[in-house]
Amino acid sequence: MKICAVVLAAGQGTRMRSNLPKVLHPLLGRPMAWHALETARQVTGAQPVMIIGHGAETVRQTLGEQAARYVVQAPQLGTGHAVMQAEPLLRGASDLVLVTYADMPLVSADTLQQLVAAHQKNPAAITMFTVIAADPRGFGRIVRGADGQVQAIVEEAQATPEQLAIRELNASAYCFSADWLWPALQRIPLSPKGEYYLTDLVGLAVAEGLPVQALVAEDPAEMIGVNTRVHLAEAEALLRRRINQQWMLAGVSMINPEAIYIEPEVTIGRDTVLWPGTYLRGNTTIGAECELGPNTIIRDSQVGDGCTILGSVLEGAVLEEHVEVGPYARLRKGAHLASHVHMGNFGEVKNSYLGPGSKMGHFSYLGDATIGPEVNIGAGTITCNFDGKQKHPTEVGEGAFIGSDTMLVAPVKIGAGARTGAGAVVTHDVPPYSLAVGVPAHIIRKLEPPE
Ligand code: UD1
Ligand code: MG
Repeated sequence: MKICAVVLAAGQGTRMRSNLPKVLHPLLGRPMAWHALETARQVTGAQPVMIIGHGAETVRQTLGEQAARYVVQAPQLGTGHAVMQAEPLLRGASDLVLVTYADMPLVSADTLQQLVAAHQKNPAAITMFTVIAADPRGFGRIVRGADGQVQAIVEEAQATPEQLAIRELNASAYCFSADWLWPALQRIPLSPKGEYYLTDLVGLAVAEGLPVQALVAEDPAEMIGVNTRVHLAEAEALLRRRINQQWMLAGVSMINPEAIYIEPEVTIGRDTVLWPGTYLRGNTTIGAECELGPNTIIRDSQVGDGCTILGSVLEGAVLEEHVEVGPYARLRKGAHLASHVHMGNFGEVKNSYLGPGSKMGHFSYLGDATIGPEVNIGAGTITCNFDGKQKHPTEVGEGAFIGSDTMLVAPVKIGAGARTGAGAVVTHDVPPYSLAVGVPAHIIRKLEPPE
């Protein structure tokens, strides 16, 4: 059976008290709506249709054209009216229509798959999820008849005191038979609030004598709807726990997982150990047998096997295998540390390559530099890469020894095996195997190349 997904995201989200559209509020670094779209795509294997309205242009630009087919709902006259907007695109295109709300970002693909499977097994007009929860969070209440069958969904604003006491709630994940859905949407009555509620379809189907199937969600935590920033923080905590558990079960150790933050697209190898205060963000891959943290932030970076990163910040960096970093190191965009590099405390590396086995132990800045293998960068070495207008490159050859507090005034090249004396200000290239000292530095002697 062919199935299409519609994700509703046009509402204003008044209760967030924000200038940012609700569905763009981030959850683990990704807009709330991104999570709902990813899940819908996993279930149907196709691009979902997203209904946008409030902040439509911002939503569309932030999520991108690949993420969904967008339909604008203007004005926004309720969730039923929102689904109507998808009809021109989807009528006749599928047998089933899966509808979810972008403010329900924790609903998992497995759960939606259950919904679709149940609908296929027992064809109904509507198959939907309900959730039993102590805190109703403003959700619609499920009204069941004496026979236990679902009769209607009553929105909180319209509910009687008896109905308000009902603890079975509308989780708002629905699978509809397309043939019934499209014409039925036109029959939704206008609510007292002046909106067309999607939830009124349940009462309509029942009145028409059609079966409505309700599944009670096994894990109420998935059915967290985000209407306020308090809900957002709750959803974030649950999602963070879910992701951390997945990685622990896949072989990653965590010391105090509550204090570890991993975004959804990060990957981590086996036997890596994460200490508290570790943040793995964006498009980051971590190899096997690494030790990260405490207190480490890594974003959009690639870290090879066997690396140790303590108390440091990496952004747009690449580390090959067995690299040691920190404490208090900062790697910026384009930092590339080859295998067995050691970068100690208070160093900064930007747009630079350090060759295999090179060491930069203390208090150094490397910008726009290419450092060969087995180089020693002495304490306090600085590449003076910016002349106030332009950036210039620095090159250091294999096995060179840069003395403490050397200023490398770029553009400049230090040859293989060369040395600079402590405090040298190097303004001219230093040939291989020569010793340069002083301010400005001059060559005082040739050095013996190794055998
Ligand atoms: C809705 C349900 C409620 C359910 C709850 C679960 C309705 C009428 N009520 O209430 O039964 O328990 O979700 O989270 O469906 N939207 C549009 N266009 C509109 C209005 C809303 O696209 O005109 C979108 C919103 O962006 C949001 C979703 O639909 O993603 C739900 O809207 P919201 O206002 O949050 O409804 P709830 O009050 O949470
Ligand atoms: Mg809501």
